[in-house]
Amino acid sequence: ALPVRIAPSILSADFAKLGEEVRAIDAAGADWIHIDVMDGHFVPNISFGPAVMKSVRGVTTKPFDVHLMISPVDAYLDAFAEAGADCITVHYEAGPHIHRSLQHIKGLGKRAGVVLCPGTPAKMLDYLLDTVDLVLVMSVNPGFGGQHFIPSQLKKIAAVRKMIDQTGRAIDLEVDGGVDPDTARQCIDAGADALVAGTAVFRGGPDAYADNIRALRGA
Ligand code: DX5
Ligand code: ZN
Repeated sequence: ALPVRIAPSILSADFAKLGEEVRAIDAAGADWIHIDVMDGHFVPNISFGPAVMKSVRGVTTKPFDVHLMISPVDAYLDAFAEAGADCITVHYEAGPHIHRSLQHIKGLGKRAGVVLCPGTPAKMLDYLLDTVDLVLVMSVNPGFGGQHFIPSQLKKIAAVRKMIDQTGRAIDLEVDGGVDPDTARQCIDAGADALVAGTAVFRGGPDAYADNIRALRGA
């Protein structure tokens, strides 16, 4: 299998120097840049929108892995595509028309992802795996960085891995929330091939970013 991809979440970055932070994680070996968009409605927190994402688009050529924690979501898909998203991931729980949202993202020429909250079973993917390019399993309840990994999600990661392998399609299995070198190892063993990390990458400041990313990859 491909070496695991590491997607640092800029939610944990120093917003007072966001451009420098993106440049720093790029140089430190990030594979993707995870952009956590929160609307204060789908999740009890507000982060940033397409304009802020666009402002750092030119800082790096690494793919923007956009995690939309917003509902309703369809009205914003074009804006994030135009602002430079490479993969746009929508919550299964954001509304009744997840299939249509994913089709729309594909129509925009972007990779399409679906993300499951901890309470949502893997079975909900049954009619989406012929469309998505990525499945994101939340290992915390969405809304904040720095939370503890929810161990029950390891079983779901293994179940999703099996479902993906049965499709024969190259679908990325990404895990997000409370990922550190210890939980990273467990996620990789369960079948994850991409890991989001905020706290575990940004802790210790810019001089620690490369070692923090290596520790997650080599976990
Ligand atoms: C939470 C976000 C996660 C979070 C990860 O809603 O989707 O990406 O920022 O932060 P850590 O790695 O600190 O849990
Ligand atoms: Zn996220």
